[in-house]
Amino acid sequence: MAHRKLDILERDGFVILKPNERHIAAEEWEALDYLDWKSGGDTNFAVLASADGTDDPRGFWELGKPDKDGIWTDNAEKAPTLRRWVEDSKVRFGRVRVIKLNPSTSENEVTSRFLHQDDNNRLNPDGEGWVVRAWVNLTDDPDSYMVLREDKDDPSTEHRIPLPRNAQFLVDTERLWHAVYHPGPEPRYAMITSFESGPALKKWVTARMPRPRSKKR
Ligand SMILES: [Fe+2]
Repeated sequence: MAHRKLDILERDGFVILKPNERHIAAEEWEALDYLDWKSGGDTNFAVLASADGTDDPRGFWELGKPDKDGIWTDNAEKAPTLRRWVEDSKVRFGRVRVIKLNPSTSENEVTSRFLHQDDNNRLNPDGEGWVVRAWVNLTDDPDSYMVLREDKDDPSTEHRIPLPRNAQFLVDTERLWHAVYHPGPEPRYAMITSFESGPALKKWVTARMPRPRSKKR
């Protein structure tokens, strides 16, 4: 049996949502404990929800569970608005982290070295919902963008997601190759949440779809 997936991600593998509307104070990400953990560049991660509630940045499969049913860590107590953002979604969630990305050296390095696919669905039982990832950009990085490619080596398959403050988007990161180009000069912070595809996520996404442009007469 196949995993349950969202129709809305079928064509492109990602969807850009309406911006986050709740105020998130900088202390919520600045006060967290960050671990040295490299993924897609010079990164550090603060773990908000892990497989067992400890400050463990590893994939849930390391503890024998799929990337679902995340347990809040001590860090999450310092970030009540971020925690509420996840809980209010009413979607089954797994790993939740804040990424701190230091400035990139070049666009070329991002596409030649850092593009990768995530391993979101290891141990995910057949017939359950496919795990995808949601982002909220916390810092204001309008000149930065996430590169998404269906084929790692084919730029014609590329889409770019701009990253101003409060940008929200959902990506099937096991399908799409991805990495962020961030010129800096300050680090970029964003929250990343693993969500299970299913009716709850569909409802959450639908409520955040940008309004379609009105047709020209
Ligand atoms: Fe990734």
